[in-house]
Amino acid sequence: MFSDLRPLPLDPLWALQDAHRDDPRPHKLNLGIGIYRDAHGHTPVLNAVQHAERALADAAPSKVYRPLSGNADFNAAMTRLLLGDHTPTLERTLDRTVTVQTVGGTGALRTLADLIASANPEATVWTSNPGYANHHPLMRAAGLLTAEYPWQDDGTGTTDLTPMLGTLDAAQPGDILLVQGCCHNPTGIDLSEESWHTLASYCMGRGLIPLIDMAYQGLGQGLHEDAQGLRIMTRHLGTVLIAASCSKNMGLYCERTGTATVLVPHPHEKTAVLSVLEGIARRTYSMPPEHGAAIAATLLNTPHPWHQELDTMRDRIRTVREALGHALRDAGAPHDLLTIEHHQGMFSLLPLTPHQMDTLRDHHAIYGTREGRINIAGIPDHAITPLAHALIAVYGQEVVGR
Ligand SMILES: Cc1ncc(COP(=O)(O)O)c(C=O)c1O
Repeated sequence: MFSDLRPLPLDPLWALQDAHRDDPRPHKLNLGIGIYRDAHGHTPVLNAVQHAERALADAAPSKVYRPLSGNADFNAAMTRLLLGDHTPTLERTLDRTVTVQTVGGTGALRTLADLIASANPEATVWTSNPGYANHHPLMRAAGLLTAEYPWQDDGTGTTDLTPMLGTLDAAQPGDILLVQGCCHNPTGIDLSEESWHTLASYCMGRGLIPLIDMAYQGLGQGLHEDAQGLRIMTRHLGTVLIAASCSKNMGLYCERTGTATVLVPHPHEKTAVLSVLEGIARRTYSMPPEHGAAIAATLLNTPHPWHQELDTMRDRIRTVREALGHALRDAGAPHDLLTIEHHQGMFSLLPLTPHQMDTLRDHHAIYGTREGRINIAGIPDHAITPLAHALIAVYGQEVVGR
């Protein structure tokens, strides 16, 4: 049966992880994978999570099967986190909203892709270029077509809508516009508030359905501020899809905790949408795992300690970004490299070629993706100045293919 099967090439991100693990150089720096690290390079479990885990263990809840849509308490709290507690957005949309628990943000994207494929198999999903490496594979695995729109800096650190909308003019009514809600991976370039309004009107006029990927809520400007774009979309449009992840903002990476939310134009459509979402879960994994959702529900319902730790993470990312900017300026970096100062969230896309990224790895033991993405949240304090010098050295090289 498997004799003709050929191994797939290793996913580039996991290959990078392996290469970093096997690198004997003591000063090696892993800026490849998107995880938050503290000033010493560690990713500890949040205190609020440890506290919730202890309380859950003490309460010793039963391990019986849960509903196909997961933990209802968690789903309700996530809906409030996304749409805003006691906000007009929530009040206007709650009776048109369906939320189910998913296996991380990835599971949310795949669940929504399957839902789209059930409702409109002809839909093309438009994703940003550059964009999150897994968007295309996830959408295609559900049998959907994909296409790309450009995601470019307008010179001030926000997205230039002109080329984006110019490309989207080729989209058909019913197509899906997959857009990241905040802290764009890999560029760190986000839409301005004004651009979100323009994009919402554009989607309305063209009959496009937004699918908003919220993987970093709270790690850009704040929990509320980072949801501004998605709330603008839900205020303007009848149908909006939202994939959310608790991996980064709660540090629950391996607990695989997320939600898929669907806003429908009319409340009576909720029943069918929920039943299709539950059917997708049933035939894939039956129901999502409880542990991460139970922890997240505790954090969301008693938010103060979590908010404090989230503030610390966000402040650290900002501080590291600023410090790297200063170190680059002090070392006389060219303007191109200084654009990282304007970016949001965990990532920045460096203006370096794949060859230059290889040089960064081979000569300086610094691991970023070959596309040029580095995880700002992964830079320990002691590595900021050496990183700035290495970037300038590599940028200045004469390289074929620039
Ligand atoms: C833009 C984006 N969407 C979704 C995900 C997937 O999140 P999760 O790890 O919760 O599956 C990521 C993870 O890096 C991401 O960057």
